[in-house]
Amino acid sequence: MKEQLKEIQATFVQKLQHVADAQELEQLRVEYLGKTGVLKEILRGMGKLPKEERPVMGALANEVRDALEESIEGKRQELKDRKLEEQIGREWIDITLPGKRPTLGHPHPNSLTTREIIDVFHSMGFVLEDGPEIDTVANNFDALNSPPDHPSRDFSDTFYFDETNLLRTHTSPVQVRTMMKQAPPIRMITIGRCFRNDALDATHSPMFTQCEGLVVDEGITMGDLKGTLEQMVQLLFGPETQSVFRPHNFPFTEPSAEVDITCFKCKGAGCRFCSGTGAIEILGCGMVHPDVLEYCGIDSEKYTGFAFGMGIERVTLLKYEIDDIRYLFENDQRFTRQFRR
Ligand code: DAH
Repeated sequence: MKEQLKEIQATFVQKLQHVADAQELEQLRVEYLGKTGVLKEILRGMGKLPKEERPVMGALANEVRDALEESIEGKRQELKDRKLEEQIGREWIDITLPGKRPTLGHPHPNSLTTREIIDVFHSMGFVLEDGPEIDTVANNFDALNSPPDHPSRDFSDTFYFDETNLLRTHTSPVQVRTMMKQAPPIRMITIGRCFRNDALDATHSPMFTQCEGLVVDEGITMGDLKGTLEQMVQLLFGPETQSVFRPHNFPFTEPSAEVDITCFKCKGAGCRFCSGTGAIEILGCGMVHPDVLEYCGIDSEKYTGFAFGMGIERVTLLKYEIDDIRYLFENDQRFTRQFRR
């Protein structure tokens, strides 16, 4: 039996050398140390030995078992170490390689204009208001004194949802909303998208952005309107830029005006940019019509106000000398990248 144990140990050691992975190691363990393993088999034969030999053999068998267990444990550790080393060999990183530079975002030119306009009016104490792009016919037209037959109400100009709701055609309904929720003094601007059933060409887009301003208080005059807008023009386009107020007509203001600024390209001499006139139209404005004030619950005997509306894209095109509005909506990076600061 002693011989047998020696032999078992010898073959085990041999087999162990050929074990290549954890699975094979487990198989070998079961084969030798498992419940029906080789060693158990031998121990079962102990019963046939003479009584005095049994303790010696038992001790020897235990010794062999401990030795086998120990070598299995050793092998297990060896396999684990080898696996880790292989993994480290496979997963190395060359930290000396140059990094990939992430593309940094930057504001759209229209956003640059928007921020600049907000800054200009903040500096003059205006509050920024917001209004929905889907508004009512009442806020968009009725409250603003637009006669029922006004051409802008036409189906061909306005996107209607139904009889009462539409995509706002200008930001002027935010004036109405502000006057309805707040008593004078009011000094607000709002900037947002507007929609008109226009063709898309170099100078028109069915979706565009407007900035609207409104001041209502006791004793507001045309002088306040002129002063405010001249200040804005100089801050936006440079201190040498002149503004010219030209009479115009809007249903919601009386009197009304359009403002032209000196063409910054030719400084007023006349060029392709300003179609030879030396001036460029940038906004509409006027003194708020008493009917509009009254509609919004403001006493037109006590209060007066001025308002203006200006296309943001137009300002962007002028400031950056872009000759096609479509560039602003296509988001072609070859275009937008040029505004990275
Ligand atoms: N709502 C006008 C438009 O869309 C712009 C405008 C003109 C707004 C005069 C005003 C204003 O508030 O007083 O063309």
